[in-house]
Amino acid sequence: MAATSGVVHRQVEGYRRPAGGDEPEVTSNRHFQFGGENGYLSQAIKFSPSQSGFVGESPVAREILGLAQKLSALHSTVLITGESGVGKGLVARMIHSGGPRAEQPFVTVSCTGLPSELVESELFGHEKGAFTGAYEKRVGRVEIADQGTLFLDEVGDLPLDLQPKLLNFLQERTFTRLGSNKTISVDVRVIAATNQDLKGLCREKRFREDLYFRLNVLLLHIPALRSRKEDIPSLVDYILTRISQYRRCKSFLVAEDAFEALLRYDWPGNVRELENILERSTAFCSDFTIRYNDVPSEILNHAAPDIAEANSLDGLSLAEITQMAILRTLDLCGGNKSQAARRLGISEKTIYNKIRELRSSDRNGALLHGNALENLFQKKTERVAVR
Ligand SMILES: Nc1ncnc2c1ncn2[C@@H]1O[C@H](COP(=O)(O)OP(=O)(O)OP(=O)(O)O)[C@@H](O)[C@H]1O
Ligand SMILES: [Mg+2]
Repeated sequence: MAATSGVVHRQVEGYRRPAGGDEPEVTSNRHFQFGGENGYLSQAIKFSPSQSGFVGESPVAREILGLAQKLSALHSTVLITGESGVGKGLVARMIHSGGPRAEQPFVTVSCTGLPSELVESELFGHEKGAFTGAYEKRVGRVEIADQGTLFLDEVGDLPLDLQPKLLNFLQERTFTRLGSNKTISVDVRVIAATNQDLKGLCREKRFREDLYFRLNVLLLHIPALRSRKEDIPSLVDYILTRISQYRRCKSFLVAEDAFEALLRYDWPGNVRELENILERSTAFCSDFTIRYNDVPSEILNHAAPDIAEANSLDGLSLAEITQMAILRTLDLCGGNKSQAARRLGISEKTIYNKIRELRSSDRNGALLHGNALENLFQKKTERVAVR
């Protein structure tokens, strides 16, 4: 399991749970409530940085927020980097709306997927007849952004032949429309974003180094969600609250085992993927409750504990290996004991007995907190380290 799992589980344990009672099953029926009035999460969110729209409780998220607030007050160019879906667009908007240009336009230009001529016309505008198909004069985005902020999204995709023009604009804050000689001057703040390694692109001569240095005045990197899993609980709460608001429905519950699957998954598509998965899960769940089986299988299938680590039995006693096999199989079968028993080639009764044994040896309540497997790995690691 990744090093972050301990943090995640501690955080999960801090969550509001219905009071007391002995749970009859390993995969419990406990739920986390999202979007309610008095929950831990709602309170955390009320007083947290999420008022800005940027949700996250991790030190990294707080740092990003603090940095974005500082950058808001300045006029210098900002480069935001990070994988797709981490929130680069959101942070760019935050920087704009937290600063003195907030009342002025925030204009986005996507530098991706368009031929050079169209990007140039999109950026700087064109005169009538400037190129085939230019039937009307067009004001470019740079001009529309005057007094406000120009957001250059996916700047790493800017065609090479356009890069000198952008560089010139960044240096002078002047430009000419395509097909015109008239120099126009504007006052815009530039924020650029990329999910590419611009330095690497410079080495490959696909991005001009001088432009890179012009853009990289103030750098804000947003790490991938998998490296700040502590943010997942508050993001889940925020997203589900938004879904219930726009659907004008009750708030959603998330079963503990479903929630833990969300925590275990690595989210290559980051927050955008989390949004999509929750949207899908809420569309198909019943009683406003996301259960384990409502979570799409691609998440469940990739949310198993680290296989390499699980496969290594070094440092575990026979009893612990048995426990691990049972817990992992239950996990894979979504808590279904008869299915797990079939997979393990034992009777259902044996599985119940083993669970009872496991519960009675579960002195720290690890099982009740749903992190028994991690606990076993932890015990194993400690023992291996001591030897
Ligand atoms: N910390 C966060 N709090 C709340 N919502 C977030 C957060 N991070 C991202 N989001 C949401 O996730 C979605 C994706 O974010 P955004 O479009 O800003 O990502 P991006 O990094 O610009 O992605 P891409 O590189 O694909 O353009 C948006 O709906 C955004 O509001
Ligand atoms: Mg974006």
